[in-house]
Amino acid sequence: MSDQRPLAMVTGGSSGIGFELAKQFARHGYDVALSGSSDRVHEAARSIEELGAQAYPFQADAATYDGVEGFWNFVAELGRPLDAAALNVGIGLGGAFMDTDLQDEFRLIDINVKGTVHMAKRVVQHMVPNGHGRILIVSSTSATTPTPYETVYGPSKAFGFSFAESLREELRDTGVTVTALLPGATDSDFHSNAGMDNTALGPGATKNDKVLVAQQGFEALLNDVDEVVGGDEETKQTREDNRTTPEPVKAHRQAELTRPRGD
Ligand SMILES: NC(=O)c1ccc[n+]([C@@H]2O[C@H](COP(=O)([O-])OP(=O)(O)OC[C@H]3O[C@@H](n4cnc5c(N)ncnc54)[C@H](OP(=O)(O)O)[C@@H]3O)[C@@H](O)[C@H]2O)c1
Repeated sequence: MSDQRPLAMVTGGSSGIGFELAKQFARHGYDVALSGSSDRVHEAARSIEELGAQAYPFQADAATYDGVEGFWNFVAELGRPLDAAALNVGIGLGGAFMDTDLQDEFRLIDINVKGTVHMAKRVVQHMVPNGHGRILIVSSTSATTPTPYETVYGPSKAFGFSFAESLREELRDTGVTVTALLPGATDSDFHSNAGMDNTALGPGATKNDKVLVAQQGFEALLNDVDEVVGGDEETKQTREDNRTTPEPVKAHRQAELTRPRGD
């Protein structure tokens, strides 16, 4: 038996929910490889090391093939079996579809959809021959409702949710599990980065605690749950209501949160 600590990777692990997930892994005995597009990933790694883990930071753009492949090669070259992977990196994009820049939408799809598939391919092809591994795919409660004024974001997260549930069934009996984390609106840089400061989700909005969201995702991953909502009771209730509420009703309700003020 190896006395080496298990190894986890977290994409987009330098801030927000991903950083909190990285801390969960570190506190539970894992070493952690983490990625981010800016150099703050190195500072995040130092914080992870303060928790007693080895941290392996990698700076690359997850919107590009080379960025995703580069992070995977970096993890593979550690020469250790990968025990857990949190495919967390994702960006938002607010605004009316009429006005948003198509290149920004393509970039979102590259990160949230293409990048997730790319990294999942590498992770699955590594874990299945090893006969073990846990994969967490960070989707969103936005996967369960139309998302006007985030017109491409919600569908990208619906992709992640369905992808996770599909892969989970395919990997049954391989020793590799797949869990989808569906956070509700969470306190991070996400909405500001998405250009949504001028909406009801902007500064001052009540949001879920990213520490709680990460704890819930980590526990679900360890307990081999297929899907977990990240957030408080109200967030969980919204997800339940979304199962039976007609799509146009949900779309109208969601627009109240996401419509830029003045539109
Ligand atoms: N916050 C919410 O309300 C919410 C709700 C539901 C689901 N989610 C999902 O949760 C996940 C994490 O979101 P978050 O709220 O933690 O967002 P966040 O605070 O904006 O953090 C995003 C993380 O991804 C990294 N990142 C962004 N663009 C990247 C790129 N091109 N290449 C590599 N790394 C990149 C960021 O690092 P750098 O800044 O260094 O690039 C950061 O570590 C996303 O998939 C999001 O869709 C969020």
